[in-house]
Amino acid sequence: MEVKTSLLDNMIGVGDMVLLEPLNEDSFIVNLRNRFDHNEIYTYIGSVVISMNPYRSLPIYTPQKVEEYRNRNFYELSPHIYALADEAYRSLRDQDKDQCILITGESGAGKTEASKLVMSYVAAVCGKGQEVNKVKEQLLQSNPVLEAFGNAKTMRNDNSSRFGKYMDIEFDFKGDPLGGVISNYLLEKSRVCKQPRGERNFHIFYQLLSGASDDTLMKLKLDRDFSKYNYLSLDSANVNGLDDAASFRTVRNAMQIVGFMEAEVQSVLELVAAVLKLGNIEFKPESRVNGFDESRVKDKNDLKEMCELLGIEQSVLERAFSYRTVEAKMEKMSTTLNVAQAYYARDALAKNLYSRLFSWLVTRINESIKAQAKTRHKVMGVLDIYGFEIFEVRDNSFEQFIINYCNEKLQQIFIELTLREEQEEYIREDIEWTNIEYFNNAIICDLIENNQNGILAMLDEECLRPGTVTDDTFLDKLNTICAEHQHFESRLNKNSKFLTDHSLPHSCFRIQHYAGKVLYRVEGFVDKNNDLLYRDLSQAMYKATHSLMRQLFPEGNPAKVNLKRPPTAGFQFKASVGVLMKNLQTKNPNYIRCIKPNDKKVAHIFTDSLVCHQVRYLGLVENVRVRRAGYAFRQPYESCLERYKMLCKKTWPHWRGPARDGVEVLLTDCSVPTEEFAYGRSKIFIRNPRTLFTLEERRRACLEDLATLIQKIYRGWKSRTHFLLLKKSQVVVAAWYRRYAQQNKYQKIKSATLVMQSFIRGWKARNILRQLKYEKRCKEAVTTIAAYWHGTQVRREYRKFFRANAGKKIYDFTIQRIMQKYFLGLKTTTMSPMDNTWPAKPYGFLEGAHTQLRRIFHLWRCKKYRGQFTEEKKAVYEEKLEASEIFKDKKALYPSSVSQPFKGDYLEIQKNPKYQKLNSAMEEKVLLADLVNKINRANGKGSPRLFLLTKSNFVLADQKTGQVKASVPLPDLASVSVSTQSDGFFALKLKEGSASASKGDFLLSSEHLIEIITKLHRIGTTAADRDQINIDISDEFLVQFKQDKVCVKFIQGGPKNGNSAACKRKNNRLLEVSVPSP
Ligand SMILES: Nc1ncnc2c1ncn2[C@@H]1O[C@H](COP(=O)(O)OP(=O)(O)OP(=O)(O)O)[C@@H](O)[C@H]1O
Ligand SMILES: [Mg+2]
Repeated sequence: MEVKTSLLDNMIGVGDMVLLEPLNEDSFIVNLRNRFDHNEIYTYIGSVVISMNPYRSLPIYTPQKVEEYRNRNFYELSPHIYALADEAYRSLRDQDKDQCILITGESGAGKTEASKLVMSYVAAVCGKGQEVNKVKEQLLQSNPVLEAFGNAKTMRNDNSSRFGKYMDIEFDFKGDPLGGVISNYLLEKSRVCKQPRGERNFHIFYQLLSGASDDTLMKLKLDRDFSKYNYLSLDSANVNGLDDAASFRTVRNAMQIVGFMEAEVQSVLELVAAVLKLGNIEFKPESRVNGFDESRVKDKNDLKEMCELLGIEQSVLERAFSYRTVEAKMEKMSTTLNVAQAYYARDALAKNLYSRLFSWLVTRINESIKAQAKTRHKVMGVLDIYGFEIFEVRDNSFEQFIINYCNEKLQQIFIELTLREEQEEYIREDIEWTNIEYFNNAIICDLIENNQNGILAMLDEECLRPGTVTDDTFLDKLNTICAEHQHFESRLNKNSKFLTDHSLPHSCFRIQHYAGKVLYRVEGFVDKNNDLLYRDLSQAMYKATHSLMRQLFPEGNPAKVNLKRPPTAGFQFKASVGVLMKNLQTKNPNYIRCIKPNDKKVAHIFTDSLVCHQVRYLGLVENVRVRRAGYAFRQPYESCLERYKMLCKKTWPHWRGPARDGVEVLLTDCSVPTEEFAYGRSKIFIRNPRTLFTLEERRRACLEDLATLIQKIYRGWKSRTHFLLLKKSQVVVAAWYRRYAQQNKYQKIKSATLVMQSFIRGWKARNILRQLKYEKRCKEAVTTIAAYWHGTQVRREYRKFFRANAGKKIYDFTIQRIMQKYFLGLKTTTMSPMDNTWPAKPYGFLEGAHTQLRRIFHLWRCKKYRGQFTEEKKAVYEEKLEASEIFKDKKALYPSSVSQPFKGDYLEIQKNPKYQKLNSAMEEKVLLADLVNKINRANGKGSPRLFLLTKSNFVLADQKTGQVKASVPLPDLASVSVSTQSDGFFALKLKEGSASASKGDFLLSSEHLIEIITKLHRIGTTAADRDQINIDISDEFLVQFKQDKVCVKFIQGGPKNGNSAACKRKNNRLLEVSVPSP
C-alpha cells in the first residue's frame, strides 16, 4: 500500500513559507536559517522553490532520491528541486503543457548547478533506449563544453557563468527527449582582455595550457607557462578545487560525445591559441613627419606565430593594426592608428574573435542536438541567466546594466505569471478574486527599454549620431530626458534632490532596480554598445586560410561590403530578451530562486544580512504575501480528507461519499469559522495558516491517540500471536518429546525381546544339537554293531573257505608286503663305501638276509667304486693295501701314513738340476727318491743321504754332491727290520756272502718309512724273483755293521725327548732308540 505522506510531516521550521506565522522578513530569514542549519536547503513558496547554496555536496541527489520523488505530488514530500522537476516533467508529459524553468539568483547562488540537477533528474526519469540515451547524453554533455568557454572564476563564484543560457529540451508525446536548442545571451567578452583582481579569464585558456599534451601545445605554438600570456591574470591562475588538466580531458570528451569532429576541435583550439597570441602583440610609437604618431608592432614573433596558426599574411595583419580605412559612400580614407588605438583594435579583435567563437560553438552544439523528428514537440525550457549583479567595490558598467535589465524583465515576468497563475487558479476553482497589492517593476523596464526615451534607445541614438560622441554626452542626454523618472537618479539632474548626494559621482547614474539601487559609471557605455571592430581587421581575418576564422568574420568579405552599421550590442540584447520573454510567456513557469548564504563560498555559514538582501530584492516576502493574499493554503479535497479525516467521527475511518462533502462535514465538525475557508471546485482554500496549524495540531494529538490505539491493538496482536506461537510450539515440542519417549521405550523392549529371543533360540539349538549328537552316536554305534555283525556273518559264512586256502595266501601277501616295504626302506642308503649306516631290521625273521644283504650291498658298491679307478690310482691303492697288510696293527707309525699319499720321487730328481748327475748315473727309472739319515754306529748320530730306488736296486748317495755311496741290487737285500713303534728307523739287512754285504747292513731313518718299505717289499719281491722280502717288526734287532753286530733297541721315552726319536750308543753292542710316547 502506498504510504501517503505530506510536506507537513517532520518539518523543520516550515517547508512552505506560505505557512509562516507571523510573516515578516525576520521570521522568513529565521526559517531559512533554521532549515539551512538542518541541511534543508530547499523551501517552497507555494510552487516556487527557494534553493540555498550549501557549498558542499549533500547526499540528496542519489538515484534513490530520484526514485523517491518520481511520480509523487509536489507537496507530498519535503521540499526538493526534484519535486519541481518532476511536477514540470509530468505536467509536460501528461497535460501537454510546455514548461519553462526559470532559475534566478545572484552570482554564485547555484543557478547553474540547479539547472544541471533539473536536467539530470529529467534525464533519469524520462524514457530509455539507445537513441534516447544518446540524446540525453548529448544534452548533458553540452554543459561542460559551454562552461569551459563561457565560465570563469570570479570573486563571487569559482565557476561563474559569464553568459546567459536558455535551453529548450524537446520531448515527443511519450515524454522521451528528442533534442534541444540552446540560446546564449551576451557573453562577458571584456574578460578576454582584462580581468578584475582575483578573477580569471575563461576556463578554457587555463585548461588548454594545463591539460593539452606537449605535442598539441607545440602544434599550437603555445607554452605551458601562464605567465607568458598578457591576457591571463596570474594572481589567481590556480583555483583551489579546480583541476584544469582533468577538466580539459572532460571537455574534449564532452565535445566528442556532442559530435564535434576532430578537425573542428583542433580549429577551435587554434582560435583559442590565436587569442592568447594576440594578447602578446605589443606596439610602440613611431613619429611621422606630419606630426602624427603611428604605431608599430614591437616584437613580431608573436604576430608571426599567430599568422602562421591562422594562415594570414603577416603584412596584412600588421597593416590592419597600423591603419584604419573609413569608407563613406564612394569615398575611401585611410588614417594611421596611434599606439592606444592599435591596442584598442587588438583587444577589440580578441574580444570579437572569442565571442564569435563562443556563438559558433553554441550553433555547432545546436546542430548536433537538434531534434530529428518533424513531429510536434513538447518543450521544457531551462533558463540559467546571470544573476542580478551589483558591485560595491568596482564600477558597474554596461555589462551589469544589461544583466540587471534582463533580471528586471525576468522579475516582471515572474510577477505577471505568478499573479496570473494565482488568478487563474481562483477562477478555475470558482473563488472570488480579491485584488492584491504588489510592486510592479514594469516602470523600471520601461525606463530602460522604452523605444522613444528608454536608456537603451538613447544610448543607440548617441552611438549613431554624427559628431563627437562620448560617454559624457550620453549622460547629459540621460539627465535631460530621464530627469523626471522616479527610478532614475543623477547628480547633474535638474532635479535638485540629488545635487548634494555625494554618494552619486558626476560620471554616474543610478537606477532603483526592483532589487535595489545600482550605480552605473557611464565610462565605456558608448564603446561597448558600439562594439566596433575596424573593418581592416575583419577583412584581414577573412583573408585567413583557416576556414573557421573566415566563417567567424563574414563581414570581412570584400564582395559583401556593407556600409550599414551593425546593430548595437544593447539593441541586439533587447531584441533577444524580447524574444525570450515572449517565449517564456507561452510556457508554464516553474521558479527556482537561488540564494547565496555567504560571500566566502564556504559551507555551514549563513550570513543574515546577505540573505536578507537577496530575499528583499528577489521580493520573496512579497511573493509569499501575494500567495497568501487570498488564501494561504490550498489542497485538493481528497488529500485534505485523507490527512484530517481522523478529526471527525463521521469521516473516520472511511468516508464513503464525495471528498468535498467529507471535507465540509469535517470542517463543520471541527468548528472552523466559515470565513476561514472557501470551497473551490477541486480544492479547499484555507485563508489563514493559523487555521491550518490548528488543524495540524489537532491531527497530531489525534495521531497520538491513534498511535496509542494502534500500539494497543498491535501489542494485543503481538502478544496473542506470540502466545499462539508458544502454544503451537509447545504442541510441537510435546509431540516430539512423546515420540522420543515412545521411541526409547520401544527400543528397550525391542532389545530385551532380542535378548530373550536369543536365549531361547540358544537353548533350543543346544537341545537340537544334543539330540542330533545323540542320534549321530546312535547311528555310529549301529554302524559299528552292524559292521561287526556283518563281519561275524561274513566270517561265519566264509569260514569254511578261509581255513582251507586263505591262510597261505594271506601269509604270502603279508610277507610280500613286508618285504616290499623292507626293500623300499633300503633305498635310503648311499653309494659311498665309507657309509656304515644300514637300516635296522624290522622283523626278527629277516636277520640272516639282512646281514647278507648288507655285505653284498657293501661289496657291490665297493666294486662300483673301484670300477671308477685309473691304473695309476689303482697302483697307488695297491701299494697302500700292501702297506696295510705289512704294517697294520703291527707298527704304531702306520695309522699316520694312511692319509699320506705315496709320492715316490720326493726330490723331483729329474727336474732338479742339483741331482742331474745322479739322475744320469741311474740306469733305470727312479721309483723312489728321498732324503734319509744314515745312522752312524759309533755315536748313533745320523748323516743325510739320498735314497733312490729303482726296479733292480737301491742307491745311497751323498746329499750334497749326489755322489753314489752305495748301490745295492735288490736281490742282495735279505730283510728289513723296523720297530713296532712310531719311529722312522729301519735296518736294511743284506744277504750274507753277497757282494754288497761287505760294507755291512744299513741303519737308516726316514720320514717316509712306510712308503719306502712298502715299495722295497713290492719291488724287492719282483726283482728278487722270490716270494717276498722279509719284514721283521720288533723292538730289538741286530744289525751287522762292517765288523760287528750291534743290537738296536727301541724304548719308550718320555715326552721330554721331543717329538722325534733319538738314537744313542750305549755300548759297543747296543744302540738305543728312544721313541717319544704317543
Ligand atoms: N546544490 C548544490 N550542492 C552543492 N554545491 C552547490 C550547489 N549549488 C551550488 N553549489 C556550489 O556553488 C558554486 C556556484 O554555483 P553556480 O555556479 O551554480 O552558481 P551560479 O548561480 O550559476 O553563479 P553565476 O551566476 O556566477 O553563474 C558551485 O560551483 C558549487 O560549488
Ligand atoms: Mg552559473
